[in-house]
Amino acid sequence: MQHGSLPPAQKSAQTGVDKPASDKAPQSLYGGVTSRRVTVRDLAAAKQRGERWPMLTAYDAPTAAVFDDAGIPVLLIGDSAGNCHLGYENTVPVTMDEMVMMSAAVVRGTKRALIVADLPFGSYQESPAQALRSAVRLMKEAGVGAVKLEGGERSAAATELLVQAGVPVMAHIGLTPQSVHAFGGYPVQGRGDEAAHQLLRDAKAVQAAGAFAVVLEAVPAELAAEVTASVHIPTVGIGAGLGCDAQVLVWTDMAGMTGGRVPRFVKQYADLRATLGDAARAFSADVIGGTFPAEEHTFH
Ligand code: KIV
Repeated sequence: MQHGSLPPAQKSAQTGVDKPASDKAPQSLYGGVTSRRVTVRDLAAAKQRGERWPMLTAYDAPTAAVFDDAGIPVLLIGDSAGNCHLGYENTVPVTMDEMVMMSAAVVRGTKRALIVADLPFGSYQESPAQALRSAVRLMKEAGVGAVKLEGGERSAAATELLVQAGVPVMAHIGLTPQSVHAFGGYPVQGRGDEAAHQLLRDAKAVQAAGAFAVVLEAVPAELAAEVTASVHIPTVGIGAGLGCDAQVLVWTDMAGMTGGRVPRFVKQYADLRATLGDAARAFSADVIGGTFPAEEHTFH
């Protein structure tokens, strides 16, 4: 395994001068290329090299721009936007129009990341033809480079048609949040022999259908590692242990913007909720106390 190669140089947005990328953000996936978007071929090559990569969700242009500048090579407009951005209880209510609007914003805010958009609940389950119509909307109206859809064997026919039509597909198996009502919550998947065999069948089915990567959500680490070793496409883990080729987190969980309890598999890298709350309280105090605007914020 080769991990954490040296980051390539980046042009500073302010000065146009070459500067090293942050030490904390190894960007080996780009292989020194900073002038084009990451492609599905880059991800396939990374698997060959045994190189891990990170993926984050994004739902708007400025946040996506921050992650793009940080060298995150794949950004997902997840339908997790339902509960993390749009204020719904879960992902079920998210519509195609909402996905198109958020995806277009993320595409506009980025230059280098591969942009993947979720097909929301109800936009692909009817038939492969419906899946193709939805994927085409996301590609033509929003400009995304790939779509993601939930389901293994059950979504293989849709994946096959999309891939034949030239749409790169990321699959999503294990815990598929659009089935929250069928699951009765968000239980860990793949426990027990039959469930483990089904997960392996699902991974192989989406690979055979032409998916370029597969998300494994909330499955035991040992099983995720076995799936990763049994397929040639990259596996993207979320709550699936260290044995996957890539890792994804919902950005609001990762950065501490999510209110309430976060799943056990989340690592929180910042406390943005506290930071923003502090900023809002300081602004409020300045306005109430008459200290904002100060002289330097004032025109005469
Ligand atoms: O909707 C989403 O954000 C996702 C990721 C958690 C993989 O599907």
